Amino acid sequence: MIVSSVQNLWKLCAGVRRLSTTGPIRMADSSVAQLRVSYRDKGDVLLEDNLESKNPHQMFSIWFKKASERDDVRQPNAACLATATKSGIPSARFVLLKAFGESGYTFFTNSESRKGREIEENPVAALTIYWDALDRSVRIEGAVEKIDETESTEYFDTRPRSSQIGAHVSRQSTVISSRESLSKQNEKLEVEFAGKQVPRPSYWNGYKIIPKTMEFWQGQSDRLHDRIVFERAEDAAEKQIASHAGENGWVFYRLSP
Ligand SMILES: Cc1cc2nc3c(=O)[nH]c(=O)nc-3n(C[C@H](O)[C@H](O)[C@H](O)COP(=O)(O)O)c2cc1C
Repeated sequence: MIVSSVQNLWKLCAGVRRLSTTGPIRMADSSVAQLRVSYRDKGDVLLEDNLESKNPHQMFSIWFKKASERDDVRQPNAACLATATKSGIPSARFVLLKAFGESGYTFFTNSESRKGREIEENPVAALTIYWDALDRSVRIEGAVEKIDETESTEYFDTRPRSSQIGAHVSRQSTVISSRESLSKQNEKLEVEFAGKQVPRPSYWNGYKIIPKTMEFWQGQSDRLHDRIVFERAEDAAEKQIASHAGENGWVFYRLSP
């Protein structure tokens, strides 16, 4: 009897701890729980019959242009890139999309970074963009390939000099003793490269994701959001998904929000 009362008291305390504002789960923190925005209204939905394009690359291009034209979208090319180790441990971070189209969606990074190592051992990735001002998001998934080194060099040569030197300074994702050590290395390299062109470090490369699927999401205020997924026709056929014919070997279908 005493034992079960003590157990009940312990469970009760654990429950209170979970609900307390200093505990790990802040259920009572209504300021976060109540954050909610209105998206589009019912008159402005994404319909299969009037998609901007039936080719996902063209559709991306049209959506990207719309995002780029807005003053309230400061970095329309900022995208969250998810990679994973071979055993499936995921990691995600933002990168800047630097080119896109039929041949792939390109970003640049340090091949020795965490993402670089994960891509090396498991060459697949997912890339997600969210344009808050447009109530729109795009998700891209597919295989990842390193782009041609000459293309990486061409792009590297267009970067501001400080970024070029920065690429030599930063051994991305390694532990460093202090910010000061970075600054000192930066000063040292500025002297070393003075009057010279800064070469692209061999570990600084472009990668492209070749999409297998591309999802276009548009938010609706009633939470019945639009989700249109484009997939290669052969992949959709294998999964026996009922789909609509797209262009260039793509089909598309709607997902429940
Ligand atoms: C908006 C934004 C854009 C970024 N763009 C890049 C990029 O294009 N390439 C890159 O290597 N890191 C970029 N970063 C930094 C990465 O998010 C990340 O800190 C870094 O690449 C190390 O990631 P990793 O340790 O997972 O490899 C960006 C960060 C932000 C917030």
